[in-house]
Amino acid sequence: MAGTRDKIILIVGGAGYLGSVLTHRLLARSRRVRVLDNMLYGGQSLLGAWHHPSLEVMVGDIRHDRDVSRAVEGVSSVVHLAAIVGDPACASDPQLATKVNRDGAYRVCAHAVDAGVERFVFASTCSNYGRMENSDGWVDEESSLNPVSHYAKLKVELETYLLRLDSEVMQPTCLRFATAFGLSPRPRFDLTVNQFARDLALGNSLEIYGKQFWRPYCHTIDIARAIELTLEAPVESVGHKAFNVGSNDENYRKQDLVEKLINLLPESESLISYVQKNEDPRDYRVRFDRFEAAVGFQSRVTVEAGLREIISAVRSGVIKDPYDHRYSNS
Ligand SMILES: NC(=O)c1ccc[n+]([C@@H]2O[C@H](COP(=O)([O-])OP(=O)(O)OC[C@H]3O[C@@H](n4cnc5c(N)ncnc54)[C@H](O)[C@@H]3O)[C@@H](O)[C@H]2O)c1
Repeated sequence: MAGTRDKIILIVGGAGYLGSVLTHRLLARSRRVRVLDNMLYGGQSLLGAWHHPSLEVMVGDIRHDRDVSRAVEGVSSVVHLAAIVGDPACASDPQLATKVNRDGAYRVCAHAVDAGVERFVFASTCSNYGRMENSDGWVDEESSLNPVSHYAKLKVELETYLLRLDSEVMQPTCLRFATAFGLSPRPRFDLTVNQFARDLALGNSLEIYGKQFWRPYCHTIDIARAIELTLEAPVESVGHKAFNVGSNDENYRKQDLVEKLINLLPESESLISYVQKNEDPRDYRVRFDRFEAAVGFQSRVTVEAGLREIISAVRSGVIKDPYDHRYSNS
């Protein structure tokens, strides 16, 4: 009989910003990985592991039954990351977002149940909290969900379905990630920390709106570790549960991020301007104690370290054009 480590982990969306970090991490830790991804942003992120004997890459789409049913064959765990990601991307094509983020996720889940998959980790988001009632407050998993975008509403719908899923075998876990930052084999520069650091490091102007709004942040590597810990945890600790993934100490307002950046790049202060915009009303400061208690997770990479990482990467020239559209989902 195959041991836990011989079982196949399916990463749906495994070529993406978070998925590629997870894929490489699990391979380095001797796990067998299958990726299903339609390569919306290309699949270069996986080339470094292309010949790895424990990696199988399936180019396919979660909107198609045939692709999904092939992908779940012989799999013990599914990590479902594939989506049209972020409020702007979902707002620009809401129908596509619904087809992928809702219908596609239901499809992956249904096929996984049929295939006898035991673990299903669903990538959710702290955006589900929307706007806190009290701007000095905190939210945790007991707080009400208040999604303010199509993107977050679809995440909440899927969470609700998964947490009530009546299956003798499959144990879903919903991980509500903080906003990610840091590098990845598929870099993204449309995320706050990465965007701010890129713009100022390259001497470009930076317009900031909603400077007082709180948001939690978590590094790509920490998110990959969180998923791995979830896969390895006793199922009683994580099955049919939702967890916030991040760190109590890494909640910041945008103005706090700017202060950190000015400390690192004092010459950039004059490049920053604050503007009024009512587009994004999200404001949430999040507690992460439940996940720490369940699996012992603590994030290790601070936002400050992430800012340094992005500054050095974009200044070094290793990323030819950090403004290329392939590094942005919107
Ligand atoms: N990055 C963050 O800050 C963050 C925060 C909270 C939650 N999340 C969630 O984590 C997951 C991964 O996000 P990411 O930042 O890596 O985004 P990403 O856009 O880099 O990755 C998504 C991946 O899904 C794939 N995909 C899209 N549509 C597909 C389809 N129809 N069939 C198959 N594959 C498809 C894309 O090709 C891409 O590789 C998403 O579910 C997202 O909602 C991300």
